[in-house]
Amino acid sequence: RTRLEQYSSIEDAVKLIKTSKKIIILSGAGISTSCGIPDFRSSTGLYANLQNEGKFDLDDPQQMFDISYFREKPEVFYSFAKQIYPSNFIPSPCHRWIKLLEDKGVLLRNYTQNIDTLESLAGVQNVLQCHGSFKTASCLRCKTRVPGQNIEPYIMSQQVPYCGICKAKRAEEMELQKKIKESLKKSKGKAKASWDDQDDSEEEEREWGGGEPGIIKPDITFFGQALDSEFDECLFKDREEVDLLIVIGTSLKVAPVSEVLTHIPHSVPQIYINLTPVHHVHPDICLLGDADSIVTYLSDRLGWNIPLPTAVPK
Ligand code: OAD
Repeated sequence: RTRLEQYSSIEDAVKLIKTSKKIIILSGAGISTSCGIPDFRSSTGLYANLQNEGKFDLDDPQQMFDISYFREKPEVFYSFAKQIYPSNFIPSPCHRWIKLLEDKGVLLRNYTQNIDTLESLAGVQNVLQCHGSFKTASCLRCKTRVPGQNIEPYIMSQQVPYCGICKAKRAEEMELQKKIKESLKKSKGKAKASWDDQDDSEEEEREWGGGEPGIIKPDITFFGQALDSEFDECLFKDREEVDLLIVIGTSLKVAPVSEVLTHIPHSVPQIYINLTPVHHVHPDICLLGDADSIVTYLSDRLGWNIPLPTAVPK
């Protein structure tokens, strides 16, 4: 029998989980909806809300996470960012189930697309935040990376943060330019110098590259940005070891994470747990319904107990 004919039911899912030793969990926004965090593409998701609210200057709600748009209008993202800033949420049974797999020694890695950090809050160690997080932020111009908490006040007050290093560098460069100009003026003579004076500001801008110091952006991955190289590195290693892939709570619409399914060997069984079906990929077993209920059922059948939440909101 081919792999696709071999498994189909929830019974098969229980057997597979029981016998697997190196499980990859690929998760998405659907594992955090029960915590009160909307997903992206459901009718009650973030993109529908952005569309319906019409509050922001967007042609398409995905523009909110588009790097070109961000460079052009960072104020739009910063007027919205506090809505998605990780706050006092409690990990769901799904997050805690992933932790349980890790405690049982069978979690190879959790690839999460979520930026809510709830996997870490549930205690999962081996988690890769494929779409980054608010933990750090970087200057788009000089690439300086700063701790995310440095920009927290800006997110909360809906202000665009600019890079202090760039500001200092710009001041330094402008000072240097001034000195060069002064010495040039001296050597060129007075008449020429007065002509130069008219162009001072323009030349300073040109030297600097034009515009303001760099905008700081949280290190969450936007459309048009590459994922951190760690993603490829981990996948390259893990594909040799994985013996079961469980996908939970994602529409699998965003590459390259969605391509994990085709990157792992064909012999590795794939279980898909989600509220709604997918039509563009063909996992062996599709368990459709609420993810928390499904993993709770699977745990019961395996004789496991999902740990209670330990995190206490502030
Ligand atoms: P989506 O909103 O595209 O998909 C979430 C899926 O979870 C949907 O198919 C829902 O049906 C399902 N779902 C919702 N609640 C559920 C529940 N209680 N139980 C089971 N399933 C449930 O979110 P993602 O696939 O995570 O990227 O989105 C991927 C990426 O697109 C995000 O990381 C984000 C977004 O644009 C960036 O911003 C770069």
